[in-house]
Amino acid sequence: MPTPPISKPAREVRVVSEKQALFRAAAEGFVSAADSAVKARGAFHVALSGGSTPKGLFELLASDAALRERVPWQKVRFYWSDERHCPPDHPDSNFRMAQLALLSKVPVAEANVHRIHGEDPDAGNAALEYENEIKKSVGAVGNAVPRFDLIYLGMGPDGHTASLFPGTAALKEKKRLVVSNHVEKLSTDRITFTAPLINAAACVIFLASGEDKAGTLKDVLEGLYVPELLPSQLIRPANGRLLWLVDRAAAAMLKQD
Ligand code: 6PG
Repeated sequence: MPTPPISKPAREVRVVSEKQALFRAAAEGFVSAADSAVKARGAFHVALSGGSTPKGLFELLASDAALRERVPWQKVRFYWSDERHCPPDHPDSNFRMAQLALLSKVPVAEANVHRIHGEDPDAGNAALEYENEIKKSVGAVGNAVPRFDLIYLGMGPDGHTASLFPGTAALKEKKRLVVSNHVEKLSTDRITFTAPLINAAACVIFLASGEDKAGTLKDVLEGLYVPELLPSQLIRPANGRLLWLVDRAAAAMLKQD
């Protein structure tokens, strides 16, 4: 079990009225992070996640003309923070979800879409290849961990994030950037970013919506540090911004400060 943090991680929690407002706030985050990254380095490296909340964000980015126009699409490099062990045309594929909701509707070059090869029969191999691709395309100085400009994450009602599920081996990973993770309760392997990779990002945005997240959100943000049980607590960017965007239903049990 990791050592508890000495003090609470620096993080922002922003509560918005409901789901649509959450999608809008998340989309604004995308536009402004893309703008700063492109101005600073000429490209914007963003990792997407699966789940229903990110889907709402993708649909808004694709459909709202005013938002779309503000994104330098040719300069955006897309990645995924986790993937299911399935082909890209499978209904469970996180890539497929983003492809249908966003990527097929905006001017993005195929070469800038870095998907996880979930169709590889060997999930460990898919993870290793993705780790190498990230090292090459996001880049890093020397042995430093590659630094994404922005990583979106969701949180499951059990406290998992990306495919870092409670009690699974990937939670203990200290060196690897992407691993395959056996998830007993789902009887499957997932391919997932590890905490060291996520925590090297310049900005991490969690999206949480709905009353089924309220108890877990309270435990993750205000409860004891028990990341084996609540893996979302592992996410504490070392030198970056951590923003929780939540709607009122998810925030219902949080303290009022
Ligand atoms: C996945 C995800 C996962 C997801 C959460 C929250 O592949 O399922 O990446 O971590 O983000 O389970 O999902 P919802 O937004 O649907 O609640």
